[in-house]
This record gives sequence, structure tokens and C-alpha cells, in this order.
Amino acid sequence: MHLTDEQMQRAADFVRSYLRRTALAYSPHNAEARAKNRWQHSLNVQKNIRALADGEGIPSDARAVCDLAALFHDIDHYTVDYEYHGLRGAETTTRFLISEGYPPQFVERVAEAVRRHHNEFDDDVPLEEQMRAIVANASLEARLLMDAETLDKIGISNIVQSLLTLGRSGNFQVNTAARELVSGFPLERAHLWYQTLVTPTGRRIGAQRLAFYEQVLAQIEAEIVTEDPYPEREPQDT
Ligand SMILES: [Fe+2]
Ligand SMILES: [Fe+2]
Repeated sequence: MHLTDEQMQRAADFVRSYLRRTALAYSPHNAEARAKNRWQHSLNVQKNIRALADGEGIPSDARAVCDLAALFHDIDHYTVDYEYHGLRGAETTTRFLISEGYPPQFVERVAEAVRRHHNEFDDDVPLEEQMRAIVANASLEARLLMDAETLDKIGISNIVQSLLTLGRSGNFQVNTAARELVSGFPLERAHLWYQTLVTPTGRRIGAQRLAFYEQVLAQIEAEIVTEDPYPEREPQDT
């Protein structure tokens, strides 16, 4: 199935305004900015899924499923508890696509990817074992969507997000931001996310992004003085 520019635009209009409306209903605090960031994330995920589709050489009907699934995947981020946003998102996606006249089988493939993109992990079960079970039950499009989502958490997007979060919490100092980034925790988290990538192309792109991430952190350490070597003292008479 080939999607026209108008079909993609109508889907984008719907998701963007749904996010804005539900973010506001959830909480007026920074609602517009939160909704815009969620939409931006969806666009990044769409860009990632296209790269994954290229790398995995998937057929064109699966590409159309992926394109829409990426835009819709977090549509219900603000309407239910986080663990259920994939399930609820699949329902909203289905309603919209059916009302737009898409064939039911096609709609179900998009909905299935949205439904499965989010997985809750159990700390008591080895991650590899959990990933095997998740992959065994996931469609091709769902696997690509999972990786597209994960890739947005590794690399420059993650760094920009971390800096914005610091700024929002009222921390505007360069040395604090630099210290936070090189503290080890953000990179550790990125490595963990890397472990959850399930497609060969996802792993390849993920490895590139991790290498870049490490390079940026090394460069921060090379360029930015994070601890002032001159302690502040009371003014002294000269
Ligand atoms: Fe997402
Ligand atoms: Fe999500």
C-alpha cells in the first residue's frame, strides 16, 4: 500500500492536535512544550524507522505500516498510565485509520506495532530472556518500531534532552551540565538501551550512536573545566 502525502499530512494533523489537547487536559503546566516535544520524538522515531526499513530491506507495504505506526506510537502518552499507552494508543490509531477508510487488515498491522512498541521489563528476569520472548511475539513492524524508539534514546537526541531537562530544572551552568553528562549515568543508560535493540540494522546504528556519544563525552572532558580550581575566598586586603 502506498500512502500519499495528503494521507500522511492528515495523520500528522490528527496526532499533533490529539497530543496538544491531551497534554493540556493532563496538566496545563508546560502543556504546549510537552506536546511539541512528544511530537518531535515521534518525528525522530519516523526518521529512525525509515533508516531501519532501508537497512532491513523490507517490502513497501510494511514501510507504509511503519511510517504511520511511528507517528501514532505515543499518541496516548497523556491519557493513561504509562504502562498502558501502547494499548490505548492502538485503539485510538484504529479508530482514526478506520474512519479514514484504510483497509482493516492494514489498520490492524499499524495498531499491532503501536500496541507492542512498549514493553515493561522485570528486574528479576534476565534481560536477554525477556527480549527473546518479546521478539518471538512481535510482528516485523513492531520490532522495527521498538528499535526506532530505542534509537531515539541513544546518541545526540538523548544528550539534547538531558541538557533541556537540566535547564528546565533551573540549572543553567555549563560546568554542571558537563559534569552531569560525564557522570556515567546517562551513558550507562544508553548502553542498557542498546542491549534491547532487536534488529541487525538497529544494532548497527545503535553502535554508531553509542560510539558518537562516547566521543562527545570524551570531548567534554577535554574541553570543559568542570571543577573550579580556585576556591572562592572572602575579599582580602592587598
Ligand atoms: Fe516513544
Ligand atoms: Fe512509547
